[in-house]
Amino acid sequence: VTEIHVSAPGKLILHGEHAVVYGKAAIAAALNLRSHLQLKQMTDGNLQLELPDVGISVLFALTSLESISFSGSLEDQSHSDEDILVIKNFAGIDVNSCEPKHLAIVSFLYVFCSIYKNKSQWPSLRVTFKSDLPVGAGLGSSAAFSVSLSAALLQLAGHIDSLKLADGITSWSNEDKIVINKWGFICEKIIHGRPSGIDNSISTYGGALKMQNGQITNLEKMPQLSVMLVNTKVPRSTMVLVAGVRQKYNLYQDVMEAILNSVEAITKRAENIYQECSTNITDDGFKALGDLVDLNHNLLNAMGVGHPSLDQVVAVTKKYGLHSKLTGAGGGGCAYVLIPSDTSEELLSSLKEELNALGLDVWSKTTVGGLGVL
Ligand code: PMV
Repeated sequence: VTEIHVSAPGKLILHGEHAVVYGKAAIAAALNLRSHLQLKQMTDGNLQLELPDVGISVLFALTSLESISFSGSLEDQSHSDEDILVIKNFAGIDVNSCEPKHLAIVSFLYVFCSIYKNKSQWPSLRVTFKSDLPVGAGLGSSAAFSVSLSAALLQLAGHIDSLKLADGITSWSNEDKIVINKWGFICEKIIHGRPSGIDNSISTYGGALKMQNGQITNLEKMPQLSVMLVNTKVPRSTMVLVAGVRQKYNLYQDVMEAILNSVEAITKRAENIYQECSTNITDDGFKALGDLVDLNHNLLNAMGVGHPSLDQVVAVTKKYGLHSKLTGAGGGGCAYVLIPSDTSEELLSSLKEELNALGLDVWSKTTVGGLGVL
């Protein structure tokens, strides 16, 4: 029985979320919080998807899936709206649903049908996805799903071929990662509407990268950077938040362009700091990064994607002399706190305690820039 295991990291957008949707630069890095997908070949004639973290467990008979009129193929560069409609109808999902966990089912069926449409044998599978990442909180859990799902299904069908790296780790060549990332992006578009592609790119390639106008640049000189992650646990929808910014942009383009350009200037300043510091960020570098993080958070508030719970994180961390900003789409979800290397353990644990007392989840200290899909 074939079994494939894929692990993919979550991501942290350090600077430039939302602005990146408008072609401005953004910087993101892989987290060491990861997701784990298991694909198991079965013999019961069904296709099963288990997402226990979000309470999804669905099963479809392959015979009925084979008979739907699906026209997409593996060569397509994006998804077709008609195919999405066909899949939603088949899976009994409301055609207007914006619920990411339902759209995750759609993306699963979409990639599966695109791969197997022209093949004579459709495999019976059980796919189970679990994650260390909080769901829908801006740390890239859906991208980790999209990327690991694409990698596992493409690998099973023989469209990509995993390579053994050192220490028993398995991954894919850069050419294969381009294919994984393309399908990861298609899944992300199905789940989120019009994403920039930064989340799936980080989950595929790992490390740190700059994204601008759909172009990815690997930030090879990214120094060690520690952050504290704080989850406000306030639910929000990336699709709704991105649409809210778009609405403001359409009404007040001149005003919004100025805000988005300011965010881009912050991202570029931060990039210069990262490039100038070879391994560790200097004290001056941290001081400037702190200012930039404050400015970035305030500009995100100006775009209308803030939330009182996120401002509370910023206010609490400020008391400790630290700087934080929301990360991802905002409206709740997560924030990160910059942790200079000389920060004492005592300070970190008092800060964590104070944030926990407010009902927030905290990952005390995590470094960014880990490995991509494995
Ligand atoms: O997926 P999230 O919630 O971490 O945030 C997405 C980041 C945005 O810039 C708001 C949207 C995008 O597609 O880049």
